[in-house]
Amino acid sequence: MTSHKIAPSILAADYANFAAELKRIEETDAEYVHIDIMDGQFVPNISFGADVVASMRKHSKLVFDCHLMVVDPERYVEAYAQAGADIMTIHLESTRHIHGALQKIKAAGMKAGVVINPGTPVGALEPILSLVDQVLIMTVNPGFGGQAFIPECLDKVQKVVEMRQRAGLDFDIEVDGGVDDKTIAACAKAGANVFVAGSYLFKADDLVSQVQTLRLALDA
Ligand code: DX5
Ligand code: ZN
Repeated sequence: MTSHKIAPSILAADYANFAAELKRIEETDAEYVHIDIMDGQFVPNISFGADVVASMRKHSKLVFDCHLMVVDPERYVEAYAQAGADIMTIHLESTRHIHGALQKIKAAGMKAGVVINPGTPVGALEPILSLVDQVLIMTVNPGFGGQAFIPECLDKVQKVVEMRQRAGLDFDIEVDGGVDDKTIAACAKAGANVFVAGSYLFKADDLVSQVQTLRLALDA
């Protein structure tokens, strides 16, 4: 559970070259590829959908960590299961039926994740924690890559660690937004173990050594 996992966000990659970009990610030792799905409604930006994920699947065996920033994500559970998503993480704020939606994700054979925005308190997670394989604490407001890390969100990571311990549960805690070689250590110290990084990783030509800088920062 607490092993560190790096999740390069393909949102920061070249969209005209997904096959090549997936290959670049596979050459690193990153555990996941983080795939940001945005519908232009839950967040202002639009990215890609299940058909694009299905095409990516043909080029990669990596764990597909799909982060849906979509209104009523329960509508798309089957589509993402069929596309080959391994983890489907949905926003607490995006549905009136978070409990049922998470049940649906599990029933479809995927790992289920729940994610909260910086403005959402952790308390609302309590009734659904037993359903999830992963809790994602946003460390920026979702919608765009390249934003500044919000350090106040780390208190919420700590609170989720406590909630997990109290409940005797076992799930991963992921952070997403503004993660780089300077912020990653504080995330790990707070108790996160899955680290999404987009612009920090893809700004460099050499993805392998860039992932390595994150590992070094974690070990320091
Ligand atoms: C933002 C997305 C992130 C994004 C992170 O809404 O959920 O996954 O790719 O990008 P960086 O690492 O650039 O903040
Ligand atoms: Zn994301």
